[in-house]
Amino acid sequence: MESPKPVLLVVDDDSHVRTLLAALGKRQGFDVLTCDNGLEGIEMLRRRHIDLMFLDLHMPDVNGLDVLKATQETSDSTHVALITGMASIDTAVQAVKLGAEDYLPKPLDLPRVTETMQAIRWQFETRTTIHKSDAALAEQLEFHGIIGRSPVMTELFDLIRRLAPHARSVLIRGETGSGKELVARAFHRLGPRRDKRFVTVNCSAIVETLFESELFGHVRGAFTGASDNKPGFFEAASGGTLFLDEVGELPATVQGKLLRVLETGELQRVGSVEGRRVDVRVVAATNRDLEKEVEGGGFRSDLYYRLNVVEIVVPPLRDRVEDIPYLTAAFLREYSAAFSKAIPGLTPNAETVLAQGAWPGNVRQLRNVIERACLLCEGHLLTERDLVGALGSGGASGSRATDDAAPPAVPPSKEQVSAALHGAGGNKVLASRRLGVSRRALYRLIEKHRLEA
Ligand SMILES: Nc1ncnc2c1ncn2[C@@H]1O[C@H](COP(=O)(O)OP(=O)(O)OP(=O)(O)O)[C@@H](O)[C@H]1O
Ligand SMILES: [Mg+2]
Repeated sequence: MESPKPVLLVVDDDSHVRTLLAALGKRQGFDVLTCDNGLEGIEMLRRRHIDLMFLDLHMPDVNGLDVLKATQETSDSTHVALITGMASIDTAVQAVKLGAEDYLPKPLDLPRVTETMQAIRWQFETRTTIHKSDAALAEQLEFHGIIGRSPVMTELFDLIRRLAPHARSVLIRGETGSGKELVARAFHRLGPRRDKRFVTVNCSAIVETLFESELFGHVRGAFTGASDNKPGFFEAASGGTLFLDEVGELPATVQGKLLRVLETGELQRVGSVEGRRVDVRVVAATNRDLEKEVEGGGFRSDLYYRLNVVEIVVPPLRDRVEDIPYLTAAFLREYSAAFSKAIPGLTPNAETVLAQGAWPGNVRQLRNVIERACLLCEGHLLTERDLVGALGSGGASGSRATDDAAPPAVPPSKEQVSAALHGAGGNKVLASRRLGVSRRALYRLIEKHRLEA
């Protein structure tokens, strides 16, 4: 991939000025665009990220000030140099108010023009360098796939390092998208069972009636459809780690059986009375408040105490904003490569938007936003505009109904679920967005309302 250049836009009705500035710009290492009227200039500013614009004040129809007015919001971090023959104080003041940084009288002072260009190119290069070093640092800081350099994360890495060789069961808590699964994997990789299997069971994705046989296996003829002997997840993970994701979703009947297996180290396949020894390390994760569930009777207290012998809390992203630049740099690098786009950094305004987000969907949401912004990005730096587009109307406050949104207060009715599924042609991702629930929640709703049977 050719290394990206900053973009220069020249808007002037005078063809001599256009030719001159374009030639200078190319020599100074810019990608150059030109427009011979204000209207086209406005269009261009809306479509592309421009690093530097030379804008003529006096043009027929739409003049320089009109261009500035029309693009005040869209031209995030464009450096504007206004060119004018007759400089009046009034227009100068107005132009500055509208965001023009430079004011160049005609005839153009070429050394000064060159200086401006060099300054902007230098800024651009600094942005790319910052990004490169952030991305490199992110790589260095990575702890078994987990990026973080904030004190809370460094502490977390330390804790994992110390516990992984010994702990037999661990409970990982944290909000959705905060990285619980990554922590579970790091735990496995640093433990004595690293060469054995790591088996994930997503407790929210299993139909209640099948839970027992999925976990513990079954023998032939145990129930209709059980045509063979089959080991469950527990046996599959034997010697290794069993990751019980969303453990708060375990049905009450299974909770008791799970506890027994954990305590005796022995299980029975469904339909069999023969006990089988299993030796697994159980790592469980939840984004629910399990203590509350215990109080309310939704989760067995004895199982809870058994699981949380060791508890690890993954902090929400808003409590470790220092990590955002490094996460961003890593995701940006990943997605710009995946989409074959040269996007070596982001604008200062874009950085601010990211730093100030509430991120209810945590790192997963940040990752999704960077992915979408990379798709939208047409220039060489990710801009505020790209991010706002990627965040959608709800912004990072999370009122958006996507995979990372919080569930609505009132669960959708059977009719609503069915209508959403129908309207989305059976596509569950789309349907869950329409309903404003997560995909997992949608599966639960489908099961609850027996919609697919
Ligand atoms: N510190 C991090 N560094 C790099 N990537 C991260 C980090 N934390 C999370 N991610 C990424 O964010 C996404 C969500 O992470 P993960 O699946 O571990 O979250 P979770 O807490 O298990 O979420 P959920 O509660 O929704 O299951 C994944 O794509 C993961 O790779
Ligand atoms: Mg998870």
